[in-house]
Amino acid sequence: MLSALASMHARRSIRAFESAPVPADTIHRLVEAAGRAPSSKNTQPWRLFLVQGPALDALRNDYLAAFDAGEKPRPAYRYSPDPLPPLWQARAKEVGIGIFKHKGITRDDTAGRRAHDRENFKFFDAPHVFFLGTDASAFGHGTFLDCGFVLDNLMLGLASLGYGSCPQYSAVSYPDILARHLPNAADTLFIAGLAFGTPKAAASVNAFQPDRLPLETWFHVVG
Ligand SMILES: Cc1cc2nc3c(=O)[nH]c(=O)nc-3n(C[C@H](O)[C@H](O)[C@H](O)COP(=O)(O)O)c2cc1C
Repeated sequence: MLSALASMHARRSIRAFESAPVPADTIHRLVEAAGRAPSSKNTQPWRLFLVQGPALDALRNDYLAAFDAGEKPRPAYRYSPDPLPPLWQARAKEVGIGIFKHKGITRDDTAGRRAHDRENFKFFDAPHVFFLGTDASAFGHGTFLDCGFVLDNLMLGLASLGYGSCPQYSAVSYPDILARHLPNAADTLFIAGLAFGTPKAAASVNAFQPDRLPLETWFHVVG
């Protein structure tokens, strides 16, 4: 098992998975540990749904049908400012171009770009997807922070055990479809999905690793 720091370095977004499932008791231990996340006043405002097996196949089919029909994503909340500030926009563009280049998809390859986007709605063929949410009727900015700690715990826990994951805003593109498939999720605001499983070693997309900014651009020491 990797240490916390080694897991942080090892984690990256995985976008191709083996079909073999993660053992149920491993997932249980992971979720138990992720739930140790801190939250303001210990409110623990998160809700977590695990979708797998035939239930995931059914969800995947409905998501792909919506995507293929050209339905616009309709997430329940806006992730980022729109438009993005120019600097963030430049970084978003850099990672977008970077992954296309890595996959050999050229600028004018519209079909290739659409096929890449479509992978999101298949959850990259992962055998499991977590859906993280909170109470749709009562949340603040900090609620998203608290829920983010659980998401990060899950990602780092998976990395520490040698599994891979991809956080997905795209996985909450169609909350109405999601709600239909998750009968126990009434009044849930879906925040993100987390596709996870064993990374497909042969898939070159899994080697893609965007750079990070140099520390001195965002880390400020005073005193
Ligand atoms: C909340 C969240 C949502 C994301 N949504 C998507 C997504 O829908 N599809 C995708 O391919 N990557 C998604 N990503 C992955 C980011 O593109 C990725 O984290 C970033 O480019 C840094 O790369 P790394 O995770 O490999 O270090 C998301 C990341 C986060 C944190």
